[in-house]
Amino acid sequence: MSAFALENTEGKPVAVALSERVHWVGAFDPDLRTFDIILKTANGTSYNAYVVRGNAGVAIIDTVKEEFADEFFARLESIADYSEITVIVLNHLEPDHTGALPELMKRAPQAQLYISQKAQSMLKGLLKQDEISFIPVLTGDTVSLGDRSLYFLHTPYLHWPDTQCTYVPEEKTLFSGDVFGCHFCDKRLFNNETGDFRFSFEYYYAHIMRPFKEYVLRALELIEPLPLKLIAPTHGPILRDRPERYIQRYRQLSSPGLHSELSPNQKTLLIFYISSYGNTRRMAEAIYKGAMQVQDVRVSLYDLEGGEVSPFVDLIEDADGLILGTPTINGDAPKPIWDLLSSLTVVNLKSKLGGVFGSYGWTGEGVRLVEDRLRGLKLRVPIPGLRVKLIPTVDEIMECEAFGLELAQELMGLRENKIINFADLA
Ligand code: FEO
Repeated sequence: MSAFALENTEGKPVAVALSERVHWVGAFDPDLRTFDIILKTANGTSYNAYVVRGNAGVAIIDTVKEEFADEFFARLESIADYSEITVIVLNHLEPDHTGALPELMKRAPQAQLYISQKAQSMLKGLLKQDEISFIPVLTGDTVSLGDRSLYFLHTPYLHWPDTQCTYVPEEKTLFSGDVFGCHFCDKRLFNNETGDFRFSFEYYYAHIMRPFKEYVLRALELIEPLPLKLIAPTHGPILRDRPERYIQRYRQLSSPGLHSELSPNQKTLLIFYISSYGNTRRMAEAIYKGAMQVQDVRVSLYDLEGGEVSPFVDLIEDADGLILGTPTINGDAPKPIWDLLSSLTVVNLKSKLGGVFGSYGWTGEGVRLVEDRLRGLKLRVPIPGLRVKLIPTVDEIMECEAFGLELAQELMGLRENKIINFADLA
């Protein structure tokens, strides 16, 4: 059993000490099964909020989802009077952390609100008030509570553009917002006492942080030098046992994988296709052949019918270029193509090279639809999609080879605005 109580003898929620001066005043949501429409959780989540007490002020760091405000206020009242609160910090404005803010501002009107620079417009949208008093902060800004202080770290996109972390050097404690969090509800609260939450930690990273790996790496540059005794995220276990392990894991998960195996001048081009009668497959093989003519392009060819989506997403995340081959069935690309494309929202595809091709029988909309989707995912699609009606002829196969060659040249910065001589490809 844990050494702390979550309720007093009357059954009222109380604060939990992380140290003499830092308390947890969050709430448990064990019945939640889906978060933000897309994230699953098998045992709910927690909304973690904290109180830091200095000898010249008290800070509240984050709040909870609105439905859990009563639990938050009960815990807060067990450790501080509203009149003592001098500072409210919002590390992230998503409603699961700001639901109790309007009421907190009413109960502690003297408290000064601190948010990140990028949170300003969001705060106005959230509170729907014309006059809101707040102080925007950036990395390096500090607030004194007397013998405790708050040091802000700007960590945008983790998980929204507004996000920041708050560090208390005198406690060696990082209030990390969603960073290092997970949807895992366990009243034992601390990572050395809860059940095994590794799956939730990895799952949370994969869905929330993975699209923003470059921002994770920038945040780690700020976090890694800090002396740390404890990481206090807004969801899931509080990381007091070897918190550095979670920082190291974020670095591993955010560091490029495939590129470490490539020589510096190599680039990767992936071709995926699905084919009903072998025609789109013939096009794919010809495009593959054309692309392989360009030195230092590492080309791979995959039939979507023969693989699971998840490892393909991993490959695409690390690749420099992506070419998709799709037939058209009933005026659309078939489901395996859309399954792959819808799974790509968890990775950053910005500025990767894209291309689309496919054989069709009647109208051939599939290629154009997939092209539009690639552009929507922020890939560069510099060459119009290549379509062939039913069985490709010898000339059309050569056109496919030229298409592959051009895309590979584009990838290497070698493409010129020239007319391809098909005889060169024979
Ligand atoms: Fe826990 Fe992004 O809110």
